[in-house]
Parts: sequence; C-alpha cells; structure tokens
Amino acid sequence: MKKLVKTGVVGLDELLGGGLPEGSVVVLSGPPGVGKSTIAMQYINQGAIEGETGIFLSIENNASDVIEYASSFGWDFLKQQEEKKLLILDRTIFTDAEMQLSRDFGALKDILDDMRPKRFVVDSVTLFDFLFRDDISRKMNMMKFVELMKKHSCTVIMTLKQPEDFPTLIYTDWHFLADGLIVMFWNRNRAENERCIWTVKLRGHAIDTNIRPLKITDKGLVIYTNDIPSIPQR
Ligand SMILES: Nc1ncnc2c1ncn2[C@@H]1O[C@H](COP(=O)(O)OP(=O)(O)O)[C@@H](O)[C@H]1O
Ligand SMILES: [Mg+2]
Repeated sequence: MKKLVKTGVVGLDELLGGGLPEGSVVVLSGPPGVGKSTIAMQYINQGAIEGETGIFLSIENNASDVIEYASSFGWDFLKQQEEKKLLILDRTIFTDAEMQLSRDFGALKDILDDMRPKRFVVDSVTLFDFLFRDDISRKMNMMKFVELMKKHSCTVIMTLKQPEDFPTLIYTDWHFLADGLIVMFWNRNRAENERCIWTVKLRGHAIDTNIRPLKITDKGLVIYTNDIPSIPQR
C-alpha cells in the first residue's frame, strides 16, 4: 500500500479515500473561478505543514502574484520559500521553451535533482500546452514531463481549464496520461450558482464518486462530504 499524501483540503482527502497515493499524477479540471488554483495552493501549503517540500509551477501568473494570492488565505509562501520548503516557478523558466524542453526539460530536471520535491503543482497545464511548436512536440513533452514526475516520485496536481458545459467533459491528452481525475464545476439554476466537485477516478484506489458541494472561505476550500448539491442536476 502506497503512502497517502494529504491534500489538506477539508473533505477532499475523505473523498479520495485518505489522500493521493504517493507518486500519482492527477488532473484537476474546471472552468474559471471554481477554485482550482485554491486547491492547488492549499495542497502545497499542506506540504509545508507536513514538512514535505513542494514546487508550484505557475504558467499563468508570475511568482509574486502566487505569493500574494496565497497570502489572502493566510498561507505564507514567501516564508516557505525562504525556508526552502517551497519553490515557486513561473513560465520564465521556459523562456527559451523549445530549447529547454528539447533537452529533456533542462532547467526543471536540475531543479528536481537538487530539491527532490514530494509535491508538484502545475497551474495550469492548459497554458503549458502553448509552449510547444507543434502537436508531436507537445505530446512527446507531455509524456516526458509525466515520466520525469514519476521518476522523482512527485505527487502531482495539474489544473486544467475546462469549458463549462458539465457533464459533457472534454477529454484532452492530459486525461489519458493522468492516474487521477477530479472535476470541478458550477451547478446553475437561473440566478443561483453553486460550486461542486466530483472525484472521478484514481488508479488503484476506492473513492467517493458522488458530486459534493463546496465553498471557498478565507481559510481555503471546504468540501461538504455528507451533502449533495442543493441545486437539482440538469
Ligand atoms: N477569501 C475568499 N472567500 C471567498 N471566496 C474567495 C476568497 N478568495 C477567493 N475567493 C473566490 O475564489 C474564486 C476562485 O478561485 P480560484 O481558485 O482562483 O479559481 P480557478 O483557479 O478555478 O479559476 C475567486 O474567483 C474568488 O471569487
Ligand atoms: Mg486558476
């Protein structure tokens, strides 16, 4: 039995049957504003609490924006970086994207060897895809990236932008590479909107596949594991 890595998100570990099996690569998909980045940051913060080093690769925002966003939930990413528990990377490590990546992720590989992180976040892999010149190069590098994560036994959460039309999920190549899939979505009825989460799959692990409502508070994201959505499903 693999060690379970706690996400630190209230309710999510319960849905996942205790946490994420160490070394798994999980896609967290959903439309804007639903709470993907919050879960990603909360996961990294939990690592610092448990003394597990983490890397937060933000393709969308620069490192200082990530630090500021985390601080709005009371998570001190700056201090964690100073204590070498955390490293926040942004897309500037891919400045010369094609060159770096064609050399087996050059810069990233060195960082992994040096830091040996337990937790890894990519926010988001949707924009990561934009770094590649053509489809073959993109696919090859996606596989290389996942291999690199497996080689270093990193437990990975990759956020993925998803068009809003739940339950019609749009499957991307990332879904087929991942060990797990967590879907977040907006449940809507006229003017009323409710955030929901659905743990869809986790390779080799029993999970709660019911849809659960969630809230975002000033301490992070909370999932109500005994509740069902208050708005009827379409
Ligand atoms: N302290 C807070 N209390 C309640 N809601 C918040 C708080 N901080 C942020 N939010 C809400 O969380 C939303 C979603 O956050 P985020 O995780 O960035 O979503 P995503 O990454 O899926 O686009 C924001 O649009 C904001 O409205
Ligand atoms: Mg986001």
